[in-house]
Amino acid sequence: MKWAVEAEETTCGPGSTLVATRNVREWLPGALERLGVKTLLDAPCGDRNWIRLVDLPCAYVGADEEPAHIAAAGLYGADVRLLDIRSDALPACDAILSRDFFQHLSMADTELAQANMRKTGAKWIIATCHGRDGPDCVTGEFRYINHRAEWGEPIDQVDDGKHGRILGVWAL
Ligand SMILES: C[S@@+](CC[C@H](N)C(=O)[O-])C[C@H]1O[C@@H](n2cnc3c(N)ncnc32)[C@H](O)[C@@H]1O
Repeated sequence: MKWAVEAEETTCGPGSTLVATRNVREWLPGALERLGVKTLLDAPCGDRNWIRLVDLPCAYVGADEEPAHIAAAGLYGADVRLLDIRSDALPACDAILSRDFFQHLSMADTELAQANMRKTGAKWIIATCHGRDGPDCVTGEFRYINHRAEWGEPIDQVDDGKHGRILGVWAL
């Protein structure tokens, strides 16, 4: 039914609704202030369904490879760019918010994306982290990913879903 599709809150999935992001929306401004972030790169930004309602204490740039998401994300005047996070030059920033991203990339693409992110000069990465690692997946599918194995314990974190899923902060 066309009207049912149009009534959907976000095209980025159930994890991007206002209900699902309540903890993150409350936590993020204070976390960015504690880190001293002046410019945040939201990569990927999706359609900005939830982050457009967050009163950020810093400049903001969004990046996503999906044209429809970038069109929606730019509706409210945000600086958003159509970019492939794995390969395109990304804007300089202090921190990268990468929520619900690496879990949809193969391990090889995750390495490409993280190497590309490091070129931004960002000091911090704020990323989704599960309580366990799962097997590799094809990019576009899903896998569990636990950054603690590679990066250690996050320096800050917020509960972001079931089964110990968090959004955590690490040095990039
Ligand atoms: C599950 S959504 C999460 C969006 C947002 N971070 C959030 O919390 O609502 C995943 C997004 O990643 C984007 N994406 C996937 N691969 C990408 C890539 N290589 N470069 C840029 N964006 C990508 C998709 O287009 C989609 O908007």
